[in-house]
Amino acid sequence: MTLLQPVLAAGLVPALRGFVMSTKLHPVLVNFTAALIPVSFFSDLAGRAFKLESLRATGWWSMFYAMVVTPFTIVTGWLFWMSDDKGVVGMTIHKWLGTAFVLPLLGVFLWRLSAHRRKAWPSLGYLVVLAVVVAALAYQGHLGGNQVFSDM
Ligand code: HEM
Repeated sequence: MTLLQPVLAAGLVPALRGFVMSTKLHPVLVNFTAALIPVSFFSDLAGRAFKLESLRATGWWSMFYAMVVTPFTIVTGWLFWMSDDKGVVGMTIHKWLGTAFVLPLLGVFLWRLSAHRRKAWPSLGYLVVLAVVVAALAYQGHLGGNQVFSDM
C-alpha cells in the first residue's frame, strides 16, 4: 500500500505514462509482437507443408503469446505518445492501425484456437488471412521505426 500511495496520488495515468516513458516499454514490447506473429505464421506454414507436429505446436504457442503481449504493446503505445508525433501522417496511421490491430489479431487467434482444440492443421484460408495480418504488422513497424529513425 505504501508503494501504491504515491502512484495513486499522482494519478494512475500520469504515473503509468512516467513509467512507460522512463522504461521505453513500447519499443521493448513491439519486438515481441513483431517477432511472435511472423514466427507463428512461418511455423504453421512449414508445419503444414512438411507435416511437422513440433512446428504446428510452435505456430499455436507463438500465436497464444502474441495475443497475450499485444494489448500491452498497444496500451504502452498510447502512453508513449509524444508532442512531436502529433500531426505526423505516418504516426496518425500508426496510432489507429495499431489500435485496430487487436481485432484481426483476436480473430486469427480464435481461428487458430479452434484448430488447436481439434488438433488440426491450420487451414489454407487461415494462412492467407494471417499473411495479410503479417503484412499489416510489417507496415505498422515500418511507420513506428520511420518516426524514430528517420533523421539518422
Ligand atoms: C501492434 C501494435 C504496434 C506495433 C507493432 C508498433 C510498433 C512500433 C515500432 C516498431 C516503433 C519503433 C520503436 C523503436 O525501435 O524505437 C514504434 C514507435 C512508436 N509507437 Fe508503436 N506500435 C504499435 C502500436 C502503437 C499504438 C497503438 C500507438 C499509439 C498511439 C503507438 C505509438 C508509438 C509511438 C508514440 C512511438 C514512438 C515514436 C517517436 O519516437 O516519436 N504504437 N511502434
